[in-house]
Amino acid sequence: MEKLIFTSITILLFVSIVHAEFQFVEGVKSFKVESNLVEFTLRDAKLNIYLVDQNIIRFRYTNQNDFSKAPSYAVIYQQPEKMKFDFKEEKEKFIITTEELVVHISKNPCRISIYDKKMNLLNSDEESFGVSFDDSEVRCFKKLFKDEKFFGLGEKSDDLIKNGKQYTLWNTDYPEYTSKKDELYQSIPFFIGQRNYKSYGIFFDNTYKSYFNFGASNNRFYWFGADKGELDYYFIYGPEMKRVVSDYTKLTGRMELPPMWSLGYQQSRWSYYPESTVRSIAKNFRDKNIPCDVIYLDIHYMDGYRVFTWDKERFKNPGQMISDLKKDGFKIIPITDPGIKADSNLPAGRQGYFAAQEGLKQNLFAKYPDGITYQGEVWPGWAYFPDFTKKETREWWGDKLQPFLKIGIEGFWNDMNEPSTWGQAFPDIVQFDDNGFKSDHKKIHNVYALSMARATREGLRKYSDKRHFILTRAGFAGIQRYSAVWTGDNASTEEHLALACTMPQNLGLSGVPFVGSDVGGFMGGEPTNEMYVRWIQLGAFTPFFRGHSAIDTKAREPFAFNEWTEERARQIIQFRYKLLPFWYNEFYAASQTGLPIMRPMFLNYENDDNCYSRDAQFQYMIGENLLVAPVVTSTDKTKKLYLPKGNWYDWNNNKTQQGNQWLITEVPMNIIPLYIKEGGMIPMQITQNYVGEKKIEQLELIIFPFAKSEYTLYEDDGISYNYENDKYSLTKFECEKDTKSCKLIVNKLKDGFKSDRKNYLFTLLNTNMPNKILINGTKPLDFALEFDKERKILHLKVDAADNIKLQMEY
Ligand code: GLC
Repeated sequence: MEKLIFTSITILLFVSIVHAEFQFVEGVKSFKVESNLVEFTLRDAKLNIYLVDQNIIRFRYTNQNDFSKAPSYAVIYQQPEKMKFDFKEEKEKFIITTEELVVHISKNPCRISIYDKKMNLLNSDEESFGVSFDDSEVRCFKKLFKDEKFFGLGEKSDDLIKNGKQYTLWNTDYPEYTSKKDELYQSIPFFIGQRNYKSYGIFFDNTYKSYFNFGASNNRFYWFGADKGELDYYFIYGPEMKRVVSDYTKLTGRMELPPMWSLGYQQSRWSYYPESTVRSIAKNFRDKNIPCDVIYLDIHYMDGYRVFTWDKERFKNPGQMISDLKKDGFKIIPITDPGIKADSNLPAGRQGYFAAQEGLKQNLFAKYPDGITYQGEVWPGWAYFPDFTKKETREWWGDKLQPFLKIGIEGFWNDMNEPSTWGQAFPDIVQFDDNGFKSDHKKIHNVYALSMARATREGLRKYSDKRHFILTRAGFAGIQRYSAVWTGDNASTEEHLALACTMPQNLGLSGVPFVGSDVGGFMGGEPTNEMYVRWIQLGAFTPFFRGHSAIDTKAREPFAFNEWTEERARQIIQFRYKLLPFWYNEFYAASQTGLPIMRPMFLNYENDDNCYSRDAQFQYMIGENLLVAPVVTSTDKTKKLYLPKGNWYDWNNNKTQQGNQWLITEVPMNIIPLYIKEGGMIPMQITQNYVGEKKIEQLELIIFPFAKSEYTLYEDDGISYNYENDKYSLTKFECEKDTKSCKLIVNKLKDGFKSDRKNYLFTLLNTNMPNKILINGTKPLDFALEFDKERKILHLKVDAADNIKLQMEY
């Protein structure tokens, strides 16, 4: 029998050798067990299986003599030197067992199957193909289950469910892309597979051009692979999808807490200049009482698009402008493109460009294999490209940002960093340092922006104690460690209005929480008033909230539209500012857990099939408590939305709505449907024209009381890194309700930060007037109590204290 199997395998292999160049890995020759890994020598390759955690296993194959020593760009997690696991050899397979997983490694051919502890098969190699090498190309073929769903891959403009499609990851500048475009600015080779509501993730740690096929044109397998590099992937078991995403960010890192002001509204345009224009835009915001924290300077602020310079005619005294605007609550964020204009030697009488000269002299730019510095064409004309994979270049770049910090700049906008060059064909042969390991563009392309963001973040941290904001267009897995992301050059179309809802969710699911799209659409026509209103309503409920527009289009400031539109924009931006404590708390949570702020419905309601329907992707959750159902077709008068199980409070009409059903709700232009989950608490404050304008003496806590629930509020100064030294506070709110009573308990859990708070305003929704109220055992004064009979809302003003007990009886 054994012999027979062997013969048929031989025939199969023979056939494959004759008909294809793919070499599918064969049998195991020998193995070695270490403290946290098992090394297998295969007949034609090597396989190392690392036990990263009880639910995380790394499979690493190479057909070279040895594994690469170059460090990962994405993974920053240090694997423990010892890991508890069992290893067993049987006749036909090896078995690795952790506390959560059982891995079978068949001997001949070598194929992987992964089970949970109840021996449910979670994921397995396709029996015949497994892992293959074709010259430099690597692939992994996995068994495709009919009922398996796939999600992830970061910045993709199609639906959230990825089944039946093939994708390529190659950072691409593609202005005015549509939902049909595959490659975009970011490459995140991480996806989630889910069957029977059990999820796992696969992070393919390979920076070359990579491919993912989730059953496109075949019903037999799914596969992922890359043009070159190792077949190196992490299998992350949930079974909860939240744990998969969170653990993926344990590997690739999490967002730092951004400055609080970066959660406010940001205004951009290609380009605001000269200085008087910037000042008048700022003045308009203040005169019109439209909150705004940031104004961007696009490429025209520079001298001939030379990075690190100012156009002295347009901006005579940038330092003065920045400091004046800062007094009025504005931060100025300049664009910083990587391309350094190649004019080190100018004709007599003109000085060469210092950045070009320094870069050439210090050997900081990417070069051809013959040592000639590469030049590609981009905004400044022919330009050199800093090699951010070289430590010295990163340090140099960080140093170049210092003059900006000195004049008060607190944020940078990294663009054209795919890297983008006209023609979009950066030559493959261009060489990079690759942290001393020397590689070409094929390997570095996808991590160029990640390395640039790293240089920026490290430079800012080195010279300043303040938190800074960084925005990037391109990136790779791990970009969340350094930067927020916007979805590039979108268009003023209905399609993009809807994409502004789905793309940030997809990025969030791939570890990037600080995301958003240009409100109003960047190019490709103008938004109608209605479209702009719907867009800004949605933007106000995305983590990154910025209006921006291209050079030859209409501006996207709220006051560039008619009064009717401006008023609606003002209302929603003000509402965003009222919700800042809520947003900040969600940012804090994301920095701790790596979970998205703006979440697909199915992330929170993984067992609810309705949440996977296409319609449900046009609504989402912010954290756990708030459901947002934006209008994504501007002419729509109604919105179809789904409320999962439980009760929901409709914030717009003050009614409780039963969940587990689809609804069709009317959406007048001043409304974006918002629902608070039962038990949900939402902290709010007064609106401001900018973060820090006013002393915030009252925190309003909106509570939709239900059975038992709790909420913990994080607070710090919002500006510095002092929170890393314990300078933050945590306040826990617990609410308990039954038919006769409602109790609210406040407890300060941690007191490292003192806010200006003098009182709480507790706003209890869907409540009757209690016949007895006691605050810390005594009756509240009349002025502190207000009951809105019609809307069934009770407001209670209570002095701020570390411990408060509120009791209501009905
Ligand atoms: C790119 C950016 C866009 C910017 C423009 C000019 O197209 O994506 O946001 O305004 O370049 O710098």
